[in-house]
Amino acid sequence: MAIFLTGSTGYIGAHVAANLLEGHGASLNLLVRARDPQEAQLRLWRGLQLHLDFPRFFEYLQTRVRVFCGDLTSPGFGLNRDEYDRLVHTTDSVIHCAASLNRKSEKSCLNVNLRGTLEVLTLARHAEHYHGLRRFSEVSTVAVAGKRSNEVVTEDAAIEWDRSDYDPYARTKKFCEHMTGVLLPDTPKTVFRPSIVLGDSRHAETTQFDMVKAFVFLAGLPVLPFRPNDQIDIVNVDFVADAITTLHQKDRPNFDTYHLSSGTSSQTFRQLTTALATAQQKRAPIFLPLTERPFSGSVNFLANRKGALGYGASLMKVFLPYLVWNTVFDNARVTTELGRKPVPFSEYGFPLLKFSRENHFQYSYRPWPAAAGGSAA
Ligand SMILES: NC(=O)c1ccc[n+]([C@@H]2O[C@H](COP(=O)([O-])OP(=O)(O)OC[C@H]3O[C@@H](n4cnc5c(N)ncnc54)[C@H](OP(=O)(O)O)[C@@H]3O)[C@@H](O)[C@H]2O)c1
Repeated sequence: MAIFLTGSTGYIGAHVAANLLEGHGASLNLLVRARDPQEAQLRLWRGLQLHLDFPRFFEYLQTRVRVFCGDLTSPGFGLNRDEYDRLVHTTDSVIHCAASLNRKSEKSCLNVNLRGTLEVLTLARHAEHYHGLRRFSEVSTVAVAGKRSNEVVTEDAAIEWDRSDYDPYARTKKFCEHMTGVLLPDTPKTVFRPSIVLGDSRHAETTQFDMVKAFVFLAGLPVLPFRPNDQIDIVNVDFVADAITTLHQKDRPNFDTYHLSSGTSSQTFRQLTTALATAQQKRAPIFLPLTERPFSGSVNFLANRKGALGYGASLMKVFLPYLVWNTVFDNARVTTELGRKPVPFSEYGFPLLKFSRENHFQYSYRPWPAAAGGSAA
């Protein structure tokens, strides 16, 4: 039997897949968007090469990974009847990590997050019906807490249906949590809500650059439109993936929902910018909170432009509400249960920004080795 994991080609999902394979001896059923198995294997190799060398990856592929080429937005993931049955009958738990993070697109969030999660829940219900499901883990987000200001939010106080959301992403993820509760009433479930996941504390390399770009943009400004003592809840991806895999594999986690966040230990803008400036031997930026309105006006204006500036501004536009809300997410549950804490961003942020800048925000993927048997396209 295997864990059905969605989103394994993504940033967090690849960390989770590698942890499950390396640290937990798990077998995995992976849903991968691809035209054929060769393309799926190649896409997995790209996602997992941050974590595994090729021989190890290939060994896992042969022995403990079953790939299902499918799409969350197609009925039954677009699998044929035999493949779908095989997925149902070989799945004994689920980690649903795939999502659309496109905060600007109602359509994408509706299709991938709502319709896609419904498909995953349907699969889980079939598995539950035939042989029982050990656990359904849902990777959600702290953004389900909606519009906030100057708060420390606990897990139980996060969802309030009368509260407005910042974007379609947050709204659809909030409803995904609700759907999971309603459609799997008797299955053991765990909801994981990461905060801003930025970088791996163990090494500078990353394959995910959107949020890093926003940070590099901000780090280059001489004046920042923020309150210097506002906290920003950033968490390292290795902490997030470790928490998801450890708690998913545990017989009885203490809670049904966990914030995977830095909580009240979150650093302030001043702490972050001072650390970055020191590392670069530069002068730290000046904080002018009164410029927030004109700054966000300029960002909105520039976001409609084409090119790199327009792209940077559109990224900044979607992340800005999460940078100025001065809200952090209590993490006592996860830190107590795991006996570990996230690594402060100031301790690993500079190598991440340096790597990203030097590599022009691109990861140089290693190709599929030509000599490998069963080679991908
Ligand atoms: N990154 C963060 O800061 C953050 C913070 C809080 C919560 N989260 C949550 O963490 C989870 C993973 O996020 P991430 O940062 O790892 O995102 P990501 O790198 O964008 O990965 C998204 C994954 O979902 C898959 N996916 C998207 N649409 C799909 C579809 N139609 N069918 C099948 N698979 C599809 C992608 O597959 P392709 O490779 O084919 O595109 C990819 O594997 C999400 O649930 C997100 O809401 C992330």
